[in-house]
Amino acid sequence: MRVAITGAAGQLGRQLVVAFEADGHEVRGFSHDDLDITKPAALFDWDPDVVVNSAAWTDVDGCARDPERAMRINGEGAGAVSAVAAACNAMIVQVSTNEVFDGTLDRPYHEDDDPDPINAYGRSKLAGEIAVVAANPRHLIVRTAWLFGPGGTNFVTKILAAATHAADAGQPLRLVSDEIGNPTWTPDLAAAIVSLVTQDDRRNVVHVAGVPAVSRLAWAQVALEAAGIRVDVDPVALATFERASTPPLRAVLAPSAGVAEMDWRPASVECARGLPAKPTA
Ligand SMILES: NC(=O)c1ccc[n+]([C@@H]2O[C@H](COP(=O)([O-])OP(=O)(O)OC[C@H]3O[C@@H](n4cnc5c(N)ncnc54)[C@H](OP(=O)(O)O)[C@@H]3O)[C@@H](O)[C@H]2O)c1
Repeated sequence: MRVAITGAAGQLGRQLVVAFEADGHEVRGFSHDDLDITKPAALFDWDPDVVVNSAAWTDVDGCARDPERAMRINGEGAGAVSAVAAACNAMIVQVSTNEVFDGTLDRPYHEDDDPDPINAYGRSKLAGEIAVVAANPRHLIVRTAWLFGPGGTNFVTKILAAATHAADAGQPLRLVSDEIGNPTWTPDLAAAIVSLVTQDDRRNVVHVAGVPAVSRLAWAQVALEAAGIRVDVDPVALATFERASTPPLRAVLAPSAGVAEMDWRPASVECARGLPAKPTA
């Protein structure tokens, strides 16, 4: 298949390129410089069979400060990409987020639970889902959460840097204990998306996310232990940190049936030890 990937320089986009190529497909990764999803006509020229829209404005605080821009990129942009895919007779895969849910449910969210986003990023991503569905009957919405991937910075590398800083300063490391989610290793997610696309899965919405669900604090502790960093930890509520955006507290996704189980712990350990972690799915 000819697979076009938007947002190809991003955390997930890079892994999607690797995973589709490894599966033997002809892949073209479009970085932001190559293609702005709000003007995606250049996709026509490549005539893809599948378009994976991994591009988004993912700065959740930025989205809260400029919700119109968030809607333009994450909402209308996603719809525009889906419309070009439809015109090419291509399937569209839209990468979406757990933040379409309000995070108040006392159980993990299933595909058919009603979205009710509480922040601008979530509202723009939900608008994207709706626009993608409206523009192309061959659509797959993949909701995921708390991405971390090899190379560059991610939650694990940021926590280790903050812990080293706190330890050097003789201060405790403040970690959020009441925000719960699914850390998801991007190579695992990319492999799962390849599998969903190539097995001609007929579902329209799937949840693909790491297990078990944990607090930010518990995830950080796995990384700290793996890296051998000893620091006093001060558990704090999410509300302690003043932010432009309000993340949902418990927007935990229930992984969809048939999707490979993705345990985030081995990848977190390898990431914390600076090892080249591999897909586990
Ligand atoms: N990160 C998470 O924890 C998380 C959780 C759930 C779902 N998701 C979703 O997963 C997908 C991938 O996320 P990620 O973590 O890989 O994000 P990322 O690293 O921020 O990558 C997103 C990419 O999209 C590009 N982009 C932004 N605006 C664009 C535009 N108008 N046209 C074309 N490209 C544009 C960005 O380029 P520039 O940086 O150059 O602007 C960036 O390379 C997104 O759809 C996101 O909403 C992410």
